[in-house]
Amino acid sequence: MRQRAAVILAAGQGTRMRSDLPKVLHQVGGRAMVDWSIALAHSVGCERIVVVCGAEGTAVQQHVAGRLDEIAIAVQDPPQGTGDAVLAARAALSGFEGELVVLYGDTPLIPAAAVEALFEQLHAGASVGVLGFDAAEPGSYGRLIEDSGGQLEAIVEAKDASADQLAVTFCNSGVMAAPAAMMFEWLGRVTNENAKGEYYLTDIVGLARADGKACKAVACEEVDVLGVNSRVELAEAERAFQDRMRHQMLVSGVTMTAPETVFFSHDTIVEKDVILEPSIVFGPGVRISSGAHIRAFSYLEGARVASDCVIGPYARLRPGAVLDAKVRVGNFVEVKNTHMGEGAKANHLAYLGDGEVGAGANIGAGTIFCNYDGFLKHQTKIGENAFVGSNSALVAPVTIGAGAYIGSGSVITKDVKSDALAVARGRQMEKTGWGAAFREKMSAIKAAKKR
Ligand code: UD1
Ligand code: MG
Repeated sequence: MRQRAAVILAAGQGTRMRSDLPKVLHQVGGRAMVDWSIALAHSVGCERIVVVCGAEGTAVQQHVAGRLDEIAIAVQDPPQGTGDAVLAARAALSGFEGELVVLYGDTPLIPAAAVEALFEQLHAGASVGVLGFDAAEPGSYGRLIEDSGGQLEAIVEAKDASADQLAVTFCNSGVMAAPAAMMFEWLGRVTNENAKGEYYLTDIVGLARADGKACKAVACEEVDVLGVNSRVELAEAERAFQDRMRHQMLVSGVTMTAPETVFFSHDTIVEKDVILEPSIVFGPGVRISSGAHIRAFSYLEGARVASDCVIGPYARLRPGAVLDAKVRVGNFVEVKNTHMGEGAKANHLAYLGDGEVGAGANIGAGTIFCNYDGFLKHQTKIGENAFVGSNSALVAPVTIGAGAYIGSGSVITKDVKSDALAVARGRQMEKTGWGAAFREKMSAIKAAKKR
């Protein structure tokens, strides 16, 4: 296979988002749109990736700053069209001899297979492969003009198109592949003599044809190439992503009674035979193993849930919640950065933060791991099969030994040995007959006052 590279266009202003955040940093499925494009480039084997930003794209540059070993940034200033944008990436790709695909940073839902199909066209003899779609409303999209033999002859922008050309509904998604050397050579010859006064990437098709090279358009679904220009379209993209994810989950063996109310992130992993009740939200970084049951109104992020756990209803699992098999986390229980061993239970109203809960331990209702002193976070460790009575405050750092019991309502500030009982609350005392004597005394005082 020839080497592959991707240029991701992200220099547009994104004015219609009405946002201080650059458009391509807005998220779909919990991942910035530009990261969708980067992930797509990786998934089709691109070894070099260049993100083209505008002069005010510093936030985008910062966003990828930690990944400069895999991603190069090129600045296009001023933006003069898509062709000019790809040319801006030329220096960053110096020495690259392989095939180049152009992606947009605001088109998050493109399946890898669609891009792969463009590369296949190059291998089948085409010099340019273009991803097209049949547009419900062709509007301002560039029209793909094919000859009777299915050869792509030209891409004509709507503003430059004749009435006949405007009637064509097969449109340009913007995704395009060609050998890098040819693409840059053609781009060097593109002019801005058109309705918008811009350097159009799309003009390389006409130039390729004039050079006698074959060009081919490949069709995909319109939803796959949904581009985001406004918050309305961002919400549409999110909806499309969620629908796709729900479908994949159902097909792969996950039960959902109301899939339209379950929200996933781009990286949510749910194994087969998991039951998801209605109204569950998955933030990024969740993995649920087979046989687990997530009950309604639960919110999970950065959590791992092993087989046969029962979570919720109304549970909150935060980053670093790692639950071994058969754990139960019930209503109004929050678990953060805490490992719970097999079969451990926290069934009602508890906060488990920065802890380690041994297998089989039982955390009573109202238990709090007091993990924070206002400056630092501390660990709470609970041994296997320990029993923490209801409404206990465990003031970290603290360790409860295996098999130990904590009396309900305790405030535990010191370690508890294995198999011990610790009770840390006011001792109960009882005065026989006190209630009756009190009533007698008080009624006498009251009667005396009335006289
Ligand atoms: C472009 C295509 C059109 C296609 C449509 C699909 C051209 C000339 N036209 O039109 O055929 O149907 O996309 O959505 O290519 N960008 C830059 N620098 C620039 C200009 C644009 O980085 O100077 C980026 C934008 O951020 C955006 C993408 O390129 O991500 C497309 O730009 P846009 O202005 O939306 O192009 P369209 O006119 O919609
Ligand atoms: Mg556009």
